[in-house]
Amino acid sequence: MLNSEELLQVSYVEKLKEIVKKKENEMGRKLTCNVVTFGCQMNARDSEKLLGILKAAGFSETESEDADFVIFNTCTVRDNANQRVYGRLGALKPYKKKNPNMKIGLCGCMTQEPSVIEKLKKSYSFVDLIFGTHNIFCFAELLCKMYETDEQIIEIWESTDKIVENLPVDRKYSFKSGINIMFGCNNFCTYCIVPYVRGRERSRETFEIIEEIRNLVADGVSEVMLLGQNVNSYGKNLENKVTFPELLKMVEEIDGLERIRFMTSHPKDLSDDLIEVMKNSKKICTHIHLPLQSGSDRILKAMNRRYTKEDYLKLVDKIRAAIPDISITTDIIVGFPGETREDVLETIDVINKARFDNAFTFVYSKRTGTPAASMPDQVPEEEVKENFNLVLSAVQDMARKRTERFMGRTVKVLCEEKNEQDPSMMDGRMSHNTVVHFKGDESMIGKYFDVKLTEFHGFYYTGEII
Ligand code: SAH
Ligand code: SF4
Ligand code: F3S
Repeated sequence: MLNSEELLQVSYVEKLKEIVKKKENEMGRKLTCNVVTFGCQMNARDSEKLLGILKAAGFSETESEDADFVIFNTCTVRDNANQRVYGRLGALKPYKKKNPNMKIGLCGCMTQEPSVIEKLKKSYSFVDLIFGTHNIFCFAELLCKMYETDEQIIEIWESTDKIVENLPVDRKYSFKSGINIMFGCNNFCTYCIVPYVRGRERSRETFEIIEEIRNLVADGVSEVMLLGQNVNSYGKNLENKVTFPELLKMVEEIDGLERIRFMTSHPKDLSDDLIEVMKNSKKICTHIHLPLQSGSDRILKAMNRRYTKEDYLKLVDKIRAAIPDISITTDIIVGFPGETREDVLETIDVINKARFDNAFTFVYSKRTGTPAASMPDQVPEEEVKENFNLVLSAVQDMARKRTERFMGRTVKVLCEEKNEQDPSMMDGRMSHNTVVHFKGDESMIGKYFDVKLTEFHGFYYTGEII
């Protein structure tokens, strides 16, 4: 059943179809579109929704940014993400000169920042449509508006309590999919801009999630990734309270579903129940992403992460005691205000004790409006660079050591795509999230194979199907 907002948007898709058809007739060809995604899994899922609407309206997708409609779905978690967007926007200008029918859109997390909007108004007037994270579900409506005027359209909402799904989606992969289980974040880690640009935490109704997954499975999906900034606090604001472990148990019951992943778990909210459910599950993958950010208690406190180094290590021990072979990956920030070499050594100590299978290491990026941006003792760039290299090499050493344990094993691998370098090879993924290359062809995509791991390449394997 569609809710009233969903019905309204479906009617806009119909209206948009008419507009697109008219343009097609004028131009004597189909209209092309290109959706460019920056940022996290949540943005990747949003882009599938954008493309779903565009295709439903009659656009055909192209790989090139030389298209009739190009939209950038942006990320602002670190400044370099923003800079890349400005650079890429500039590069669209010549296409637009050549093709007067070309329209350009910009959405996602960057647009929720007032300073970005000012800049776009001033220096990027060739961008036709700008909207935010809260009204992304109005995409069809906004496109209709865009085609009715030559003015720059800017529609940003401060927040929303609406959850609008059930609109067309065009999945990147036929066999796996992300599913939003919650939106926004209430944690306000002091370095992080996400709560400001994604709003307060809102969970989706359990039955809606289950129904969506059932439909996906019926459509050929065998692996799902449950998405939220902090999945461990799923359900807290629902009338019928359902915890994240309870949700997982329900998802596990869905026939035909083979693998369940989720992202991201905040260590402070990871419950014993979750560990128990993971331990007893046949479908939840043997991998957890558990962002550490720092190993120093002083820095963790300043970051407002609400756990200590000891809490984190105890949690890792508990998880490993229940699921001994699990892979644990993490995120680490280097260069948070006030961070000294001693703090960095604490982080490296956690890397060695927690034995991470892999880690994303980020240089701290100052985000205007976050508490950390105005903290004293911003760390000089040179010092951050040195510390970053120390952390990176500790992470790489540990990742290599850990990943080596699979050598010689026969593991179940989901075949995902053709290898980019060698067309006779396919890339697949283990339950542990480790990538495996093996001989094959495209007919194998989306299927599971038992693969013997024969060659270790540092962070991935080559294997043979048996
Ligand atoms: N909700 C997730 C993280 C989302 S952002 C969580 O709490 O785990 C993904 C990662 O980006 C974070 O884990 C953090 O390591 C990094 N990050 C966030 N803000 C950052 C900043 N200002 N500078 C550098 N890295 C940052
Ligand atoms: Fe950002 Fe912290 Fe929320 Fe993650 S939990 S999105 S790091 S504020
Ligand atoms: Fe970036 Fe927004 Fe995700 S800021 S990391 S795209 S929630």
